[in-house]
Amino acid sequence: MSREVKRAVFPVAGLGTRMLPMTRAVSKEMLPVADRPLVQYAVEEAVAAGITELVFVTDRSGPALKAHFGRLAELAGKTEIGPGGERLDAARALVPAEVRLVVVPQGRPLGLGHAVWCAREAVGDAPFAVVLPDDLMVPGCLADLVEVFRSQRAAGVVAVEEVPHHDTARYGIVDVGGAAGPVSPIVSLVEKPAPEDAPSNLAVVGRYVFDASIMGILESTRPGAGGEIQLTDAIAGLAASGAVYASHFRGERHDCGSRTGWLRATVALALAGAPRGDPFPRELESLLEGWRSRAGYDR
Ligand code: UTP
Repeated sequence: MSREVKRAVFPVAGLGTRMLPMTRAVSKEMLPVADRPLVQYAVEEAVAAGITELVFVTDRSGPALKAHFGRLAELAGKTEIGPGGERLDAARALVPAEVRLVVVPQGRPLGLGHAVWCAREAVGDAPFAVVLPDDLMVPGCLADLVEVFRSQRAAGVVAVEEVPHHDTARYGIVDVGGAAGPVSPIVSLVEKPAPEDAPSNLAVVGRYVFDASIMGILESTRPGAGGEIQLTDAIAGLAASGAVYASHFRGERHDCGSRTGWLRATVALALAGAPRGDPFPRELESLLEGWRSRAGYDR
């Protein structure tokens, strides 16, 4: 079987209830972060990792995704000023010509595991990546996972990062059976354990690579935590039959599925991309000064 990873599944059919009312008519992945929609960071990371087929699982944002990434005839002849002040063709497609975009429906939001399973026909029997745009990774780490998948002849690779012990109940947590290196074989996984039951503080974050056998496992995965079909439960099944590795992410992850994480990402990326002389950092400082001096606010 080929170890080449050319397809990535983007499960974006969730309701985004934590981000209401922003997400009533605009899906979470289309919300802007600094100068582009959240999903564009994820797509740029996937394309940089060699992905040529983008499979979006969504019931409502297919037309918006196609419009955003494809060539936009209505902007023909217009110019866009790029981040370095360069002049760009505003109508250009945002992905290279060889990259295909496919949309598949989920029907009902039955959980992340179910959303991935909905992409089974688009994926076929080839290995594939799963990318959750909510987790904005700086720098992107999908290329590292693809390399681990290839070099370790893995059945699966998941990105993990250390989280505070008291937060384990918010994540899938892995047991790597001892000290974690940059790449460690996973012994077991548990979805949202209480801190006292957690096997470690290594949390699964939104980047994965699997061989196609995960689809058969998802097919028979029953609803787990929160009544949803959990991807973590299927990964635990995969780990029981083949080699699944944790790839330790050491960059900065912004959780854009929460309001605070999304605001933080917007500010962090706007600061990181601010050209010399950009007024935004000063504006931010003056906002913070005003906020500090106002009665009733703690630092
Ligand atoms: P989340 O649980 O963070 O997304 O799922 P959500 O359900 O939209 O969030 P809240 O809690 O209501 O605010 C992580 C990823 O999985 C996708 C989401 O779109 C998100 O990208 N997802 C989740 C699906 O595609 N389908 C589902 O049934 C559930």
